[in-house]
Amino acid sequence: MPRPLLAVAAMVLVLAAAGAHGFEIEEATLASIQLGFNNGSLTSVELVRFYLDRIRGLNPLLRAVIEVNPDALRQAARADAERRSSSSGKCVTAGGPLHGVPVLLKDNIATRDALNTTAGSFALLGSVARRDAGVVRRLRRAGAVVLGKANMDEWANFRSLAGTDGWSARGGQARNPYVLSASPCGSSTGSAIAAAASMAAVTLGTETDGSILCPASLNSVVGIKPTLGLTSRAGVVPITPRQDTVGPICRTVTDVVHVLDAIVGYDALDAAATSTASKYIPDGGYTQFLKKDGLNGKRIGIPNGFFNYANGTVQHTVYQQHIDTMRKQGAIVVEDLDIANLSVILDSLNNGQEIALAAEFKLSLNAYLSGLSYSPVRTLAEIIAFNDAHPVEEKMKEIGQIIFLVAENTTGIGAVERAAVSQLNKLSADGLEKLMREHKLDAIVTPNSAASPVLAIGGMPGITVPAGYGAMGVPFGLSFGGLKGYEPRLIEMSYAFEQVTTVRKTPTFLP
Ligand SMILES: *[C@@H]1O[C@H](CO)[C@@H](O)[C@H](O)[C@H]1NC(C)=O
Ligand SMILES: *[C@@H]1O[C@H](CO)[C@@H](O)[C@H](O)[C@H]1NC(C)=O
Ligand SMILES: *[C@@H]1O[C@H](CO)[C@@H](O)[C@H](O)[C@H]1NC(C)=O
Ligand SMILES: *[C@@H]1O[C@H](CO)[C@@H](O)[C@H](O)[C@H]1NC(C)=O
Ligand SMILES: *[C@@H]1O[C@H](CO)[C@@H](O)[C@H](O)[C@H]1NC(C)=O
Repeated sequence: MPRPLLAVAAMVLVLAAAGAHGFEIEEATLASIQLGFNNGSLTSVELVRFYLDRIRGLNPLLRAVIEVNPDALRQAARADAERRSSSSGKCVTAGGPLHGVPVLLKDNIATRDALNTTAGSFALLGSVARRDAGVVRRLRRAGAVVLGKANMDEWANFRSLAGTDGWSARGGQARNPYVLSASPCGSSTGSAIAAAASMAAVTLGTETDGSILCPASLNSVVGIKPTLGLTSRAGVVPITPRQDTVGPICRTVTDVVHVLDAIVGYDALDAAATSTASKYIPDGGYTQFLKKDGLNGKRIGIPNGFFNYANGTVQHTVYQQHIDTMRKQGAIVVEDLDIANLSVILDSLNNGQEIALAAEFKLSLNAYLSGLSYSPVRTLAEIIAFNDAHPVEEKMKEIGQIIFLVAENTTGIGAVERAAVSQLNKLSADGLEKLMREHKLDAIVTPNSAASPVLAIGGMPGITVPAGYGAMGVPFGLSFGGLKGYEPRLIEMSYAFEQVTTVRKTPTFLP
């Protein structure tokens, strides 16, 4: 191990040992945090201090965080005061699972505070949002403390085909805390890393196609990509309202479910999608589906084309064991299923996605930019010009901005784009939607984010949970995906799976 890494690893051990009044904050779940608040062994201020120290110690290595909130300690002190006075009945949020809990937000989720919202790019530095994003308003209402902004693939990996895999100009290159040289995936890279390495218990990411499921899988944490519109996209730097979602990334299924409960619901600023999806939100919320026997009686499909691991690899063996475990837990596993036109669906450059996304991106990004109360750039064309004028900071030679250029060339949603969107809708209807109904499936199970395009084009939900560690120690995950509104059963299955397999380990910081 190179010397600087050794030094940082030693610092991690020191940090891990530190705790407030003996409360073990590293790896702490929301339930234990609330217990600590209630029995007097932990305050929100101590929790924020711990995470700020941890970020200071680990971020030079992991680059998971772009900014920390200068107001976080003040917000925490207010939460502590609210808790002290909650016996008087004045504060309704005190005692809730997120009250006083620090949350890291992906850098494309806007806040109206001291923090910048830049999607990782210097082009948006100094821009000022008119208001908090819809999900942030809900988090604040639940009493959460905004801890800072997490690093991400710049522009959610929609700048260039070369990809940015955990890199942004503002945040630098993020690293996988299990194997530092391994891909951390993206685009919600910093959110997943921060959750994995206890730089926060709660983070939010966003997904258009794989951006929650992939980094959560490769950093051994739990991520939910909700049904389209279940969570508001208002105030989120967009790619397309047809596919964008906001979802939680944490270390346990229970914790992501608590966060999901806090952030779902109607938002007048994302009215069409959030009102359509609100019919899926169950009375009493999602925690009722955290059932140890949640796999019992479930019909789980294993579609062909995803588990392509050679005999003898760790993945081959471990995924097989997991499928056996599901059977032992009472699931009916249906194998050898074909998703119609799968090869077309997985070919995002030729299935219509790129055509549709390019035009939708230009329209929705320009709308986001024009809605800001101040911004140094107001159009995609100005961002392109900014990148050209800052070739070194924005790594133009290595990465370029070909998707931006293609998008800038579009002129709205015309006949070509409408045809692409209806092709995508048909691929989804003839593909996974038909298969799920024909076989009465509760979910399909696939490795990591391999099925993310299948879910993305239909606005369908997915949950990934830690599944194992490969030969070199790189984490892999297992995803449950289903039809729109299937969150309750996906939560039942993923929770039962997590409880019976207990795969997750703390980060190993291997070179
Ligand atoms: C308070 O709760 C925390 C978290 O469960 C626990 O670790 C600690 O021992 C408890 N302390 C007391 C004084 O009960
Ligand atoms: C936001 O960006 C400005 C530069 O425009 C910087 O001065 C400020 O410190 C940033 N905010 C935070 C919280 O880092
Ligand atoms: C793996 O092994 C099984 C039997 O043990 C065999 O049927 C199968 O063809 C092998 N697959 C590959 C890809 O080698
Ligand atoms: C944009 O359109 C112009 C004019 O049709 C064309 O010359 C150029 O190659 C296009 N650029 C991209 C990146 O598609
Ligand atoms: C999908 O494949 C079927 C044949 O299996 C074909 O009839 C259908 O048109 C295809 N759909 C799309 C959108 O390509």
